[in-house]
Amino acid sequence: MKLIHHVTTTVVDIRRETSRITVYELADPDGWDLPPFTPGSHIDVFLDDRTARQYSLCGPFSRPDRYRIAVQREDAGRGGSRAIHEGWTLGTIVPVSLPRNTFHMDHGHMGDGAEHRILAAGGIGITPIIAMAEALAGSGASFELHYAARSPEEAAFRDALEGGPFSDRVTFHYSEGQHGKGHGGKRAGRLDLSGLLAAAAPGTHTYICGPKPMIDEARDFAEATGRDDIHLEQFGTHATITPGAETAYTVDLARSGGSVEVAVGQTMLEALRQAGVEIAASCHAGVCTSCKTRYLAGSPLHKDLVMSPADRREFVTPCVSEVMGARIVLDL
Ligand code: FES
Repeated sequence: MKLIHHVTTTVVDIRRETSRITVYELADPDGWDLPPFTPGSHIDVFLDDRTARQYSLCGPFSRPDRYRIAVQREDAGRGGSRAIHEGWTLGTIVPVSLPRNTFHMDHGHMGDGAEHRILAAGGIGITPIIAMAEALAGSGASFELHYAARSPEEAAFRDALEGGPFSDRVTFHYSEGQHGKGHGGKRAGRLDLSGLLAAAAPGTHTYICGPKPMIDEARDFAEATGRDDIHLEQFGTHATITPGAETAYTVDLARSGGSVEVAVGQTMLEALRQAGVEIAASCHAGVCTSCKTRYLAGSPLHKDLVMSPADRREFVTPCVSEVMGARIVLDL
């Protein structure tokens, strides 16, 4: 099945941020405004007919004709970031999806009701966080931003965070190297995320994007304390997912009445599509939720990286998730 893209863009600016992170700006080839997005949104970037990668939009909200993404080169990854770093030059045509948001920060009048927001980023997880900070600063909302990186040299958007309009709300947490003094922002040692969450005043909402250990720590904290004001998005583990069933199982389709067998090594999504069941999918990695499907019985073995515990009680992502036991009943 071919992936379908919705927006054709072209690379109009390339800026090296760190030794591994490059920032690309994409624009419509004729200069039209691009479909709008909200802080926390990402786009699928199509590298060829069948391969897509997700990148958070880091802004800029001041330019409705631009999408800015930051791509970290992952030499041990599946090759997508390498293909971008090595292949994209000014003028490269890049098909992308419409922006999607699975990491909402509802800061408008219908918003999360927060009196204060803590934004915490680890590594390349700064990309949606900087968009949130820009939006919050623009609306005059109260927030603080904590950015954990190995060293100043590996911190992306350091100039913008140190010298930008909200530098007084930024604290850098470096785990290695010279903390040094920058132009702005505070310096602190290694980020104590649980301590930060425990000290948050009532009425604070926290938005965290980072690698798996950081998200695990926050998720454990939220589960232990029953806090529902902690919002998470994980990065950096796409390469560790190996989709495909370890044991065969049956998918019963409640609405159409059919059954589909999922063989060892096959994903639920592949088996469903082979059987002619129409099901949307984009990332094939458990991050975009476009394949999210309601289940009515059975116990999924969730392997997505983004769904909340509440969502997981109702939905499964057939592109990566499996089943504990012999059957699952989907609302299809
Ligand atoms: S296709 Fe993206 S989560 Fe399944």
